Amino acid sequence: MTAQIRRAFRRTFPRTWLTLAGFVVWLATATMYATAAPTGDIPPRQTWSFSGLNGAYDKAQLRRGLQIYEQKCRACHSMKHLDFRALTRPGGPELTLKEAQEIAASYEFSTVSDDGEPAKRAGRLSDHFISPYANPEQAKYLNLGVAPPDLTYMTLARSYDRSFTQFVRDLFIPYAEQGSDYVYAILTGYDDQDPALTTNRYAPGGKLNMAKPLFDDEFEYPKNAAGEPEAPQTEAQYAKDVTAFLTWAADPDRAARQRTGWYVLGYLTVFLGLLLATMHYRRK
Ligand code: HEC
Repeated sequence: MTAQIRRAFRRTFPRTWLTLAGFVVWLATATMYATAAPTGDIPPRQTWSFSGLNGAYDKAQLRRGLQIYEQKCRACHSMKHLDFRALTRPGGPELTLKEAQEIAASYEFSTVSDDGEPAKRAGRLSDHFISPYANPEQAKYLNLGVAPPDLTYMTLARSYDRSFTQFVRDLFIPYAEQGSDYVYAILTGYDDQDPALTTNRYAPGGKLNMAKPLFDDEFEYPKNAAGEPEAPQTEAQYAKDVTAFLTWAADPDRAARQRTGWYVLGYLTVFLGLLLATMHYRRK
């Protein structure tokens, strides 16, 4: 009897399937523990114009985000993997060359003068968003012991534990905006009761060395035709816009890649049609 049951079991679940199932469970658990880090509260999911298969960056939003970066974040952070020319590329903030040149020129770079003395020069389009500090030691010293991290890949570098059920769902419906959700949560997660403004419920350990950077009505957004600011001038909106900008900065080629993806899908569809047609006619 038991031998019969064993045989029936083996017939229903051949060993390859069992091995495969075991591998999937192992992979799921291993990846989950590998990515899980001690974190604060779980950042809530946001809606982003660029999420999903056909998502796209909102040019006006990227420009506002750049404005926040320039007026606030650049005082401490660098984006040393992004060059100023990228600001003019299609699919990004799409500045004119002149606008991008003006931003580049507002940064100062070290050089050597004709007589061999150390000198300074204004930035050019091929330069990158450098750190405002002379060196990492100074960055650390002026920020109470923690240097402000480079922000180019911040939205890709940070994540959080999304729980096992979410993790399994992510295997089937990929979700790529975790890092953006995290950065937005950090920027808006400060406790206003803390006089030092460093308590942040989304920060691992509950505190950051960066004091709350954004406040309502701090920046003036461009006006629309009716003379109103084109987006609300609130902490939440500033955070949303600068996070969108940082997400673009981490992957400026996204729009181009997405377009290529659609071409490839179209091409494959045409060839699938041709293949089916040949099969159909050959059989006749
Ligand atoms: C006064 C300097 C200063 C300004 C201005 C500033 N930051 Fe920071 N930022 C820091 C420092 C210092 C850290 C490192 C904090 C830590 O690890 O505890 C940091 C960390 C961060 C982090 C990483 C948090 C993490 O998970 O480790 C992000 C994201 C960030 N800043 C975004 C921004 C953005 C966006 C702006 C502009 C709106 C901004 N910062 C303005 C100093 C600053």
